[in-house]
Amino acid sequence: MAEAAQPAAPATQPVLSEAKPVHRRDDGRKPALYHRKVGRGPCGIFRCVGNHRPTNYMILCQRPFNRDCKLPNCNEDFISPMFRDHVMPARVFWYNTFFYIYKTIYAWAVEEAMGAHGMINYVDARTSYMDGLVVIAAAQSIDQVVVIASGYCTRAYRLHRAGVKFFEVDLPPVVERKIGLVDAVLPDKEKYPRPAYVPTDLADVGALAGNLAGAGFDASRPALFTCEGIFCYLPQAVVDCVVAQVSEIAAPGSRLCLDLIPRGLLEGRVRPSRGFVNGRDALAARGEPLLSGFDTSPEDFAAYWRPHGWAVVELLDARALAAKQLPHLKWSDRKPPLLDFMHFAELRKE
Ligand SMILES: C[S@@+](CC[C@H](N)C(=O)[O-])C[C@H]1O[C@@H](n2cnc3c(N)ncnc32)[C@H](O)[C@@H]1O
Repeated sequence: MAEAAQPAAPATQPVLSEAKPVHRRDDGRKPALYHRKVGRGPCGIFRCVGNHRPTNYMILCQRPFNRDCKLPNCNEDFISPMFRDHVMPARVFWYNTFFYIYKTIYAWAVEEAMGAHGMINYVDARTSYMDGLVVIAAAQSIDQVVVIASGYCTRAYRLHRAGVKFFEVDLPPVVERKIGLVDAVLPDKEKYPRPAYVPTDLADVGALAGNLAGAGFDASRPALFTCEGIFCYLPQAVVDCVVAQVSEIAAPGSRLCLDLIPRGLLEGRVRPSRGFVNGRDALAARGEPLLSGFDTSPEDFAAYWRPHGWAVVELLDARALAAKQLPHLKWSDRKPPLLDFMHFAELRKE
């Protein structure tokens, strides 16, 4: 399978250096000073809060937030708070002792000061959206789930079923630390069976398909691929290369789900919302800039995937995802309850 991606090699060569900022971010090293720069605007000072942490840590704080606040329709990820408390022990005291003050300040800092309205709900909704697709896939006898760019995702430990094999793909240092984290927080391997860990740099041409095969992935059987919070951080040529490899190993009947950003926003063809500008700048200040997107008209989106053998099952914008996952929320263009520029899609391999 690895050979199948070889023709893409020349196109992806220059891209490897572009991918380095992403690569550096969660390798346990101290951040460079420029990653800590303070954002613009009257409340920009707050953009520096937590900038020394990779996005993985930010997600670990945001994913359990609505659940901790006991808000309706929140995701059911009961493991991410355990991961959060283990990797960020200093937070535990403040979190447990002064939760109501903490939650007010935290929500204000993320939503108002950073100016990314709907950030917490976006992480919440995308978690439950993709959880739902994993559960449906397992019910439809799909017995392989590949979590691409798994970070501190907990699906493999929460949603395992007898006979379903999970694969977790991420950068080698991230996988190494995840294994240590899982062993520390979830030592019971019977209750929380381990996925096959597949340390892989997605920017390495051909590595994904080869490493998955080496980890026991069976390309003759359908699989579900989850691509959560990853494509927008990769240069376009790396995204294309990942899509080509996944398409090569995905048997008919496979599913793929992803969240994505409209390409027109990144290229300045679409007028950006305040949430997009603030979110984009905050991520860039962290050293994890937004690098790629997809055309989000239904025709263009389908046209990108069709040559790879995928049919679009659904393409949702932020408003549709909010209505689906967090139906109690009322949409407002001024203060969107869910990051207004994000899109979500489910695809089926023909
Ligand atoms: C925003 S986090 C999302 C993590 C996880 N999917 C979630 O939703 O919690 C992005 C993840 O992509 C991984 N990543 C970034 N660049 C990568 C690359 N070139 N190869 C493999 N993984 C990469 C990071 O290590 C990180 O875990």
